[in-house]
Amino acid sequence: MTNREDMTLTSSGFYVSQEAPIRTDNPVPTPSVPAPDILRCAYMELVVTDLARSRDFYVDVLGLTVTEEDENAVYLRSLEEFIHHNLVLRQGPVAAVAAFSYRVRTPEDLERAMAFYTELGCRVERRKEGFTKGIGDSVRVTDPLGFPYEFFHDVEHVERLAWRYDLYTPGALVRLDHFNQVTPDVPRATKFMQDLGFRVTEDIQDEEGTVYAAWMRRKPTVHDTAMTGGNGPRMHHVAFSTHEKHNILAICDKLGALRMSDAIERGPGRHGVSNAFYLYLRDPDGHRVEIYTQDYYTGDPDNPVVTWDVHDNQRRDWWGNPVVPSWYTEASLVLDLDGNPQPVVERTESSEMDVTIGADGFSYTRADDENGSYRGEASKGFKIGNQL
Ligand SMILES: [Fe+2]
Repeated sequence: MTNREDMTLTSSGFYVSQEAPIRTDNPVPTPSVPAPDILRCAYMELVVTDLARSRDFYVDVLGLTVTEEDENAVYLRSLEEFIHHNLVLRQGPVAAVAAFSYRVRTPEDLERAMAFYTELGCRVERRKEGFTKGIGDSVRVTDPLGFPYEFFHDVEHVERLAWRYDLYTPGALVRLDHFNQVTPDVPRATKFMQDLGFRVTEDIQDEEGTVYAAWMRRKPTVHDTAMTGGNGPRMHHVAFSTHEKHNILAICDKLGALRMSDAIERGPGRHGVSNAFYLYLRDPDGHRVEIYTQDYYTGDPDNPVVTWDVHDNQRRDWWGNPVVPSWYTEASLVLDLDGNPQPVVERTESSEMDVTIGADGFSYTRADDENGSYRGEASKGFKIGNQL
């Protein structure tokens, strides 16, 4: 790791430091103008190839609330949400992400967003009437990393259904929690997001300082988005919260009862990073959805940054269960502002999957304990013996 001497090894096996230990020699220039004041990740616009099938998945199976719908799109929200939507499903020819949308504090922050991205030479488009139903004046950009970002303040308020326990299901989704983006150069992406006002909360590195992923936030949780190293720009997942971990187990039981267990890609489990309980699903187009609960508060300005060793077998699953290869390699395309898929650029630095479960990889449960180290077949994350 870079400057491991500047980090403190904790009794839980990860390191903490005050400043994110991530440096780039390939930065996006820092704009001279201030960044917009971003409140939180607010919604994702997903292009789906079979709207009725996707509606079944998100409404009938996962229980999101329909705010509004027409023949081309469905606008969905979680139970605690008071803005028009957290997810838009839009019928289209290619499954992809049309927008990662963030709410900003004031209408003036749209001017700041325009100036910030214009100075970087990005394509910027503003629509006073909004790009989707329920959202007013909005700015969309293709950012320097190739992602379609949206910023808005003006939004239609709808009823917050948090008290409507008659509507709750055992697996009720209560909030949009975060996005996760795949990008080839995580330090470059992290520095750019820091310029945009994000703070790093956790990251995964190796001893040489290669950064495999970084988590960053505006709202005081572990993240609003994360940058995962891989071929990109692509969308890794969008995550919704439940109140408690038993809600996640209920979703697993429901999927089993519906003979839909093949929608479960990974988990349920406990993350090392973020400390949250998790489950990863794949929707009918293969878009990945995480169900997530019980991370921790990060709002103090001196919140410690957590750094995990990429060889720590508990970083992605606290119980040491292996990460399936599809989770490392598969992700959704993202669109430019004309609706065309962005070209995918290969990551040139080593991949987390290769260093974890590749031929040369190794992992450990207890650092500096030969009996807690896994090499060869065992390094694939299998804790006892080999499994098929
Ligand atoms: Fe996540």
